[in-house]
Amino acid sequence: MVGYGVVVLVGIAVVLFYPCKAEAQAQAQLNSTFYSKTCPNVSSIVRSVVQQALQSDPRIGASLIRLHFHDCFVNGCDGSVLLEVGGNITESEKSAAPNNNSARGFDVVDNIKTSIENSCPGVVSCADILALAAQASVSLAGGPSWNVLVGRRDGLIANQSGANTSIPSPLEALQNITAKFAAVGLNTNDLVALSGAHTFGRAQCRFFSNRLFNFSGSGTPDPTLDSTYLATLQQNCPQNGSATTLNNLDPSSPDSFDNNYFTNLLSNKGLLQSDQQLFSTNASSILSLVNNFANNQTAFFQAFAQSMINMGNITPLTGTQGQIRSDCKKLN
Ligand code: HEM
Repeated sequence: MVGYGVVVLVGIAVVLFYPCKAEAQAQAQLNSTFYSKTCPNVSSIVRSVVQQALQSDPRIGASLIRLHFHDCFVNGCDGSVLLEVGGNITESEKSAAPNNNSARGFDVVDNIKTSIENSCPGVVSCADILALAAQASVSLAGGPSWNVLVGRRDGLIANQSGANTSIPSPLEALQNITAKFAAVGLNTNDLVALSGAHTFGRAQCRFFSNRLFNFSGSGTPDPTLDSTYLATLQQNCPQNGSATTLNNLDPSSPDSFDNNYFTNLLSNKGLLQSDQQLFSTNASSILSLVNNFANNQTAFFQAFAQSMINMGNITPLTGTQGQIRSDCKKLN
């Protein structure tokens, strides 16, 4: 009788606990319907604020997708890039080297947050806003659309040293950049596809001026630069000129999301050294992806959408982890 009772108790326990386990597993993943009851219009709210911002700043979409990238590479996609110093936050990611005087769009993120809070207070995370704004930015610039997976929660810390070490630098060797992608679970397919985001937006002279006059101490420019393009860049970024002058990352269609980034690489018109080395490499798998994306925009768009989902899945906080910030700049 005792043994039977134990079996019954275990049976009840299994029945009672099974749904909880299933729920916990579901919570551990992002999905595209997370806000369908609590904030059904969240995507259109984000899209309309981004569209509004584009009216006065054609670069803003590029800046917003870059924020999502810089968020996800440091402690996962948890909105940590948005936190400012104050309270328990003693150092920000915003002032880390890759972001300082470079990352932008924070005011637009705040506008999106305000607009969402007006419709559905307290439910949408800042981390999800970055993922949704990235998608809206790409599609408004003529790029692909995809179902953004949501359900992230906002982190409680900022990791400045993580931002300094985990975000790739434009001066780094391909091998190091590949390793930084691998460290967050992204492969070389993701690296090549996501680099295609440099099809819009701007870069300051300081990030590539090493290529223009005295490349690696050679006394001559980077030999992988097309000579006409080199002359234009030398003019825009003269040796004693301002380090912060802006240049289009994609000279052929600066504000459109298309596959010209890859056709540029084929004609030695990649702006950053980290861009051009995707084509000057001996790695045949990388070369063939660049060629494929240059010849087939549909293939690029498909790969890009998938890789954005992969990047957006980098160690999100879910369930009861973290919080839903009411102001993206600070902890509740
Ligand atoms: C592969 C390694 C990467 C390196 C080394 C790199 C480096 C850079 C640098 C140096 C800039 C110029 C910043 C400035 O002048 O202030 C820039 C801009 C940009 N990056 Fe990247 N990036 C990389 C990957 C990515 C990825 C994965 C994305 C998005 C999926 C991205 C999106 C952008 C965009 C859109 C801009 C223009 C931003 C604007 O105009 O405000 N980048 N990147």
